[in-house]
Amino acid sequence: MLMDRALGKARAVPTMLSGEEQRLYYWLTAFWAEGAGEIVDLGCFAGGSTARLAEGLDVSGHDVRVHAFDRFTAGEDVKRSILYPQGIAPFEGTDILPLAQDLLAPWGERIRFHRGEIDGMDWGGDPIELLVMDASKAADTMDRMAETFLPHLVPGRSLLVQQDFLHWSQPWVPVQMERLAAFFTPLVHVPRDTLVFLCHRRPTREELCAARTADLSDEVLLSYLEMAHERYADWGLAARLDETILGLRANPGKRRAFQFKRP
Ligand SMILES: C[S@@+](CC[C@H](N)C(=O)[O-])C[C@H]1O[C@@H](n2cnc3c(N)ncnc32)[C@H](O)[C@@H]1O
Repeated sequence: MLMDRALGKARAVPTMLSGEEQRLYYWLTAFWAEGAGEIVDLGCFAGGSTARLAEGLDVSGHDVRVHAFDRFTAGEDVKRSILYPQGIAPFEGTDILPLAQDLLAPWGERIRFHRGEIDGMDWGGDPIELLVMDASKAADTMDRMAETFLPHLVPGRSLLVQQDFLHWSQPWVPVQMERLAAFFTPLVHVPRDTLVFLCHRRPTREELCAARTADLSDEVLLSYLEMAHERYADWGLAARLDETILGLRANPGKRRAFQFKRP
């Protein structure tokens, strides 16, 4: 079994990921990736996920970079609940880019920072071997991120890590993957919330536009959630998807995670 100490200096970087998810990220870049493309981390927060990916790359030695995308801000509540308990000294203000740069300095040139609203950004065009989506907090921004990054996956090789697949307040994530089922094969669930998919056919921008979720009615979203419920029942995920279904029913018309109230 992969031990926590394999994460090395990445363990010092605060993260919202579970222990299993942290080990997954490291394993994917250390042992699974072949250097067939760049590593893209959508929603790196203070750098925790990026650090685990970069530490794995140091083991594999592939000459690729980890691209850390985020708006790099944190309010007092997140600073108090995530950063300070994980050893960051209290600081003023909401800008966490300097903190992330400092925490990720051990991996130097391996890491490229991309600051801003990800849904308004472009991707240069290099192939992407591993795409982590952990910023799908609203249906419309998730749709735009998919249109920007998914056309650069390598069929038969690239993995898509859907970090929020099982999060009860983000029903559009499993709906998106149901609508993209012709392009992606689910491989594994990693607790808590992550599903990993293999891209077996690359969707075009037009196909991604057709798979958008933001304008779907609650009824249509629920019908896709029922399909996901059936698809993943044998994976032991029915109860988790029930929570997502109940979450949407209790929050009709809502398309942003922060608007959701627990049923
Ligand atoms: C759950 S946190 C990511 C946790 C991180 N991967 C870790 O290891 O701790 C989600 C991040 O996505 C970012 N985010 C969400 N929507 C975004 C958007 N539209 N543009 C830029 N960043 C966004 C937030 O700023 C936040 O840092």
